[in-house]
Amino acid sequence: TPRVLSGIQPTADSFHLGNYLGALRQWVALQESHEAFYCVVDLHAITVEHDPDALRRRTRIAAAQLLAMGVDPERATVFVQSHVPEHAELAWVLGCLTGFGEAGRMTQFKDKSSKQGTAGTTVGLFTYPILQAADILLYSPEPGPGERVFHVPVGEDQRQHLELTRTLAQRFNHRFGDTFVPPEAYIPAGAAKITDLQEPTAKMSKSASSPQGIVDVLEEPGPMRKKIMRAVTDTGSEVVYDEEKKAGVTNLLRIYSALEGVPVTALEERYAGSGYGQFKKDLAQLVLDTFTPIRERTLALLGDEERLDRLLAQGADRASRVAARTMDTVRERVGFVGRG
Ligand code: TYM
Repeated sequence: TPRVLSGIQPTADSFHLGNYLGALRQWVALQESHEAFYCVVDLHAITVEHDPDALRRRTRIAAAQLLAMGVDPERATVFVQSHVPEHAELAWVLGCLTGFGEAGRMTQFKDKSSKQGTAGTTVGLFTYPILQAADILLYSPEPGPGERVFHVPVGEDQRQHLELTRTLAQRFNHRFGDTFVPPEAYIPAGAAKITDLQEPTAKMSKSASSPQGIVDVLEEPGPMRKKIMRAVTDTGSEVVYDEEKKAGVTNLLRIYSALEGVPVTALEERYAGSGYGQFKKDLAQLVLDTFTPIRERTLALLGDEERLDRLLAQGADRASRVAARTMDTVRERVGFVGRG
């Protein structure tokens, strides 16, 4: 069976609509056809200043949301990155194969570091994509004859990090022998970049968007509806897809289309002549219908912390077995003397 791996940062008290449509929905679907590894990346979450208690809380909330969305801990391996120390270990090795300039070209680093200023920018933020490559490659299937499919479901913003991961896999293979299958980004066609409801040309983002620009998965129904009704549109009244002239409506059409599973053109027809009001009202209902059961299940899962932690320990055991084998191979290939 093909493998799939992905990760998400526990950097907020809820995932948002962009995370859900860009990535998490695909996580749930792919566990049916793939051997799946899904990781809450707490090591990545400390690359910017953080509060320890908030990180602990958010890591559990993140895991609970994944399960509530339908990631099945029997079928998929759901785990916390810091439970598997091989992630940091492989990151060191891959870091020694990454050019300084190569890492410096990562646009996400450039964006984040320019916002933080030099004083607030850590070396951890700079090497972030290398740790991400390690997250992925630890779970690479063994290369060899036959099918070697390795998918990473992410949103558009992760494309460059996936390219770096492929490059590092190929570089390692070239220098030390065939070890990794270069992973393929699995990016959804219509919903790979959901934008900010208040600033529809910018990405919906935990770190950059205002609360009014983000729809949180765990949001209460009242505020959720309000945010969608108040989403920025333009002065016209036609519900038509036009990225240049109608970025706001276009974003809402993409969201609607992805959630209902109908093409954008069908929605344009459905709302021809009816104005933005009805369109937004129906979209708000659709978002509520999608997220309300997820919110309720998440809260229930968080009510039994012991069980949640037990599930994560199980996931860590399964992930560790794979990670340990990969690291044994890596240590041997790189030339470290075995411990005997
Ligand atoms: P993170 O935690 O920022 O986001 C999680 C996932 O959500 C996607 N996403 C979006 N998709 C569409 N529209 C948006 N507005 C939007 N915002 C976020 C992201 O593309 C991502 O798939 N570096 C990763 C975490 C990571 C990882 C990994 C991913 C660490 N190790 C290994 C895959 C494999 C990140 O920042 O995700």
